[in-house]
Formats: sequence, C-alpha cells, structure tokens
Amino acid sequence: MSSITDEVKSRLDIIDIISEYVQLKQVGSNWKANCPFHNEKSPSFMVSKEKQIWHCFGCGEGGDVFGFVMKIEGMEFPEALRVLANKAGVKLERQDPVLASQRTRLLDITEIAARFYHKILLESKDAEIAREYIKGRELKDETVENFLLGFAPRVEEAGWDLLNKYLVQKGFKENEIFLAGLSVKKERGSGFYDRFRGRIIFPIADLHGNIVGFTARVLPQFDDGKMGKYINTPQTMIYNKSQVLYGLDKAKQEIRKRDLAVIVEGNMDVIASHQAGVANVVASSGTALTLEQIKLLKRYTPNLALSFDADPAGDQASERGIDVALREAMNLRMIVITSGKDPDECIKKNPEDWIATIRDAKSIMEYYFDKTLAKTDLTKVEDKKKTAKILLGAIAKLADKVEQTHWLQKLSEILNVPEQILRDVLNKGKKPAPAETPSKPEAKPKTMDHREMELGERLMSFILKFPLNLEYAIHHLEPTLLPGDDLNELYKELVIYYTEIGELEFDFAEFRQKMALNNKKLADLTNVLLMLGDKDLAELNAEEAENEIVNIIKYLKRDYISREIKKLESEIKKADKDKNLSVGNDLIQEFNKLIEELAKLNKE
Ligand code: CTP
Ligand code: MN
Repeated sequence: MSSITDEVKSRLDIIDIISEYVQLKQVGSNWKANCPFHNEKSPSFMVSKEKQIWHCFGCGEGGDVFGFVMKIEGMEFPEALRVLANKAGVKLERQDPVLASQRTRLLDITEIAARFYHKILLESKDAEIAREYIKGRELKDETVENFLLGFAPRVEEAGWDLLNKYLVQKGFKENEIFLAGLSVKKERGSGFYDRFRGRIIFPIADLHGNIVGFTARVLPQFDDGKMGKYINTPQTMIYNKSQVLYGLDKAKQEIRKRDLAVIVEGNMDVIASHQAGVANVVASSGTALTLEQIKLLKRYTPNLALSFDADPAGDQASERGIDVALREAMNLRMIVITSGKDPDECIKKNPEDWIATIRDAKSIMEYYFDKTLAKTDLTKVEDKKKTAKILLGAIAKLADKVEQTHWLQKLSEILNVPEQILRDVLNKGKKPAPAETPSKPEAKPKTMDHREMELGERLMSFILKFPLNLEYAIHHLEPTLLPGDDLNELYKELVIYYTEIGELEFDFAEFRQKMALNNKKLADLTNVLLMLGDKDLAELNAEEAENEIVNIIKYLKRDYISREIKKLESEIKKADKDKNLSVGNDLIQEFNKLIEELAKLNKE
C-alpha cells in the first residue's frame, strides 16, 4: 500500500473511528458491538486495538480501518482516504492521482464554493442587505462562521455567473461545476449560469463535515414569489437529500453524549438551537425522515425527539418517517411547541422554553393518545369506534410486544372495552410484514457444517485464551475432528509446538511470534480467534471456560461420530442390496461400535 495510507493509519485509532458508527464495549484487550453489517441481537462484531483490525463472527466481514469506512459509507477507496486523512490531519495533494475520482473533484468544488459565498457574506458591499437580514434573525458572528453561511448576490450586482467564473478560474471545468449542482444549463445557446442568486447560502455537510450540497433562502426583499422560499442543490453524485441530515456533523458528538437526537424541520431551527447551546439537533430539511437518515442517527442513539407536526391519521410525510423509525425500534418522543410556530421562534422568545419543551417531549404513544382523545367524545359510539381504529393503528406499529401490551391496556381502560377484544382487532388488522428493504443481510443460515465450524472456532479461541487447557485438548481431540483446513492446521501447529517445548516451557507469546514470522495466514487466524475469545469469554472465569472446552470437544466428537454412523448406514444398505454378506457384517460391527461410543458420550 502507498505510504500515505500507512501514514493515515498510524495517526488514527480504529477504536475512535469505529466508535463514530457503533457503540463499542470493551472486552479484554478488544472491543465488541452489534455488527452494523447484518442484523443481530447479540454482538459478534469485534475490533482489536492492538492489531487495528475488525472482524464480525456473524457475517464473516472484516478488515482494517479503510475497509470499514468504505463498507459502512459505501465509499470507494479515494473517498475513504479523503475522509480518514482529514481526521488524521494528513494533508493530501489535490493532484494525487489516487484522489482524482470524480466525487472528490466535486467535493473540492462545493468546498471552495461555500468559502466563496461565505467571504462574500462577510465582506462584499453587495451583501450589506444580507448582513442586515442575518442580524435581524439574531445570528452571532461565530454562528455564521460555524455554519459557514454565505450569500449569493443578485444578478443586478453580480451578473449571472459570478461563482461559475470564479471556479473556472480556479481550474475546474464548467461541466464539473454543473455536476456539483451549482450551475444551471442555459436553455438557449450553450453555457451555464449560477443556480443561486440573491439568496442566503446554507452549506449542507455530510457527517464528516464534507460539504455535499446547499440550500438557499431567498431574502424577503427579493422574493418575487416565483421560486420557492428555499431552493436546494438537486441530486448529484455527492448529494442525496434522503441520506443527509442538516447539522449532523456538528451535532453527532452531542447526540451521543446526551443519548438523544432532536429532529427539527428547518435549517434555521438547527442553527438557532446550536447557537442557544442545544447542539444535539439536526434537520430533515422539510422532508419525511428516511430509513437512511434513521440509520445514521442510530449510530449515535436509539432515542429520537421529533419536532414535527405529526398526526396519527394526518400528515402522510411525517407519518411515513415515524413508521420507519418505529420499525427500526427507535424510541420516539414528540416535541410539542407552544411558544412560536417553530423551534427558531421559540428560541428567539426564550431559549429556556426550548430546553423545557425538549425535556417535556411526550412518548409517541402518549402524543397520539392525547391528540386523538382531545378530539373525541367517548360517550358517542361512533367516536369510540373511530378512536379505537386510530389508536390501534398506532399501537400496531410498535415493534416491542411489551410496549404494545402496555398501550392496549391503557386503551382498554379508556374505551372501557376488554383488552382481549382490542387485541383480536389488532391481530385481525395486521398486514403481512412489509418486505424487508435490501439493507442488511441476515447472518448465514446455520447448516451442520456451519455449526461445526462455529464450534471449532470457539474451541480454538478458548484454547488460545487459556493455553493451560491445551493439554486436555491434546488428549481428547484428534486434529482431524476439527473442521476447516486452517483451524486444523493451526491446532496441529500448536500441538507440535507444545510437544517440542513441553508443558513447562510452553510460551504462548513465543508461539504467536513464531506464527507471525512463518505463517501469515495462521497468524491472522490467531488474531481473529483471540478476538472471538474476548467476545465470548468476557463473562466466563477460567473454570467455566474449561467446562466449555470439555463440552465442545464432546459436541465435536458427537457430530463426527453421527456423521460416520450415517455414512455406515448407507454403506450397509448398499451391501444389503448387493447381497454382499461379509462386507455387510463387518460394517454392522463397526456400526454397533460407533453407536456404543455415541451412547457413552451422551451419558458422560
Ligand atoms: N424547505 C424547502 N423548500 C421550501 C420550503 C422549505 O426545502 N420551499 C425546507 C427548508 O430546509 C426549510 C424547511 O423545509 O428549512 C422548513 O420549512 P419552513 O418551515 O417553511 O421554513 P423555516 O425553516 O421556518 O424557514 P424560515 O424560518 O427561514 O422562514
Ligand atoms: Mn422558521
């Protein structure tokens, strides 16, 4: 690999990087978490600090920090390098051929454009009116800086292609500027003009802080009502509206710290909230929350507080977002703003109100119940039926059965209808589960071979963690009983080393060193197995581990004997069919021996 890659790696700790995506827990000298690449309930995703590698024992994925970022972000290598170099504080030469991917060119363009518009807002004579507007919205200088707000001057002052010209002069092609979403093709003739004019510019960053797109608000004085109040970068190679959350790059640490993400609708709401010191806030930018956005947030917390107008039988877009979040088993709370029409206004009146409003967020069910019941007269049968229908619909969306039961009981009390009846209605109305989106694959199904492989890996990991048990294993387990060529080979190497050196001199560190020098494949396998050992052994003491080893050896033997018995069975059938009596008799004798052995094992 190129030295720049090593340089970046050497300055980063894989634990820090992976922690940005998943919640790692330390076990021994390694770290574990639920695998972000497949669905699982108990963690099989391990990260080794010492080796700076990761491995998932559920889905088999693994690699170094680059591999992780590429996989989780769906990035190609140049982009992953860009992200990690940035974190490592390693400066990359723009001309570096490794970096010359189209995406990174576009990212350069958006970055330079954001700084250009920012400088205009701060310094240009043409931005006087924009600075007035910013002042009117009570944004401090440091906030403008932090969010890199900018201004695109009007055609009257700056012409049609101020930005386009600037970027061309910086060495970018007009077509690239267009692909970054910053210009529009002229309808007549050839050439391009700037997309944003006479607007406040809000750069939109991905969670690493790379600027990927823009949203731009018209200044009220220039609003002719023809274009929207806000216009956005269209979908580009680097900007996909459904995959970003405005402010996440600045909010993520705080979201993790407070274990809560507040989601608002507007860019200004995010900015005002951060300025008021409430920084665990992001915006969906006026669209329904998408699965991708929920998954981004899930890396930091399972707890969401939404400041949307959501109605159990109302606004379709917010409802879709809520459904997605519930299906992802997120804990949802609803923020109900009473002072002002949105968080920005609420904060303007009194920042303390905003803090209190977040604190008082209701659980989604409470919110639905309150909202629905406020509109009903339960003495009327029609109202009662309607309420039941709406609220059962909401309850049906809960992923957690215990929670469902809680709300069913509550509804039963309120409506004075037995819980069982409500439950029947609930189950009858149940739609078949929606087809899984092709997001995470399930872990591989456990075939017989797979189970044995697992047992074998588990056994070896235990032996490696507790080499004192090697002696027992050597006496009770033939190398051939271990599944998989590599496991087999590693076990043999261990046995050879142990036999050569003797019990007293056995030095596991030396064995690993030898392995690292002579057999890279087995050395890697040893590292992976040690991680597995940490994952599964964290809660066991030496004695429990020993029992496990004894048991696994028994299982492996039993599996092996059962397999041999099956083989013999078909051979006996064949001999019988061929009327080959003598062969048949020998086989039957062998068969009986194995059955006996198996019975003995089962009794042990
Ligand atoms: N939005 C948009 N296009 C529009 C209107 C809104 O993309 N024509 C998005 C913007 O991201 C905006 C969010 O939806 O921030 C919420 O819209 P709205 O509530 O109308 O705007 P505010 O955020 O309240 O903006 P402001 O306070 O500046 O009026
Ligand atoms: Mn607003």
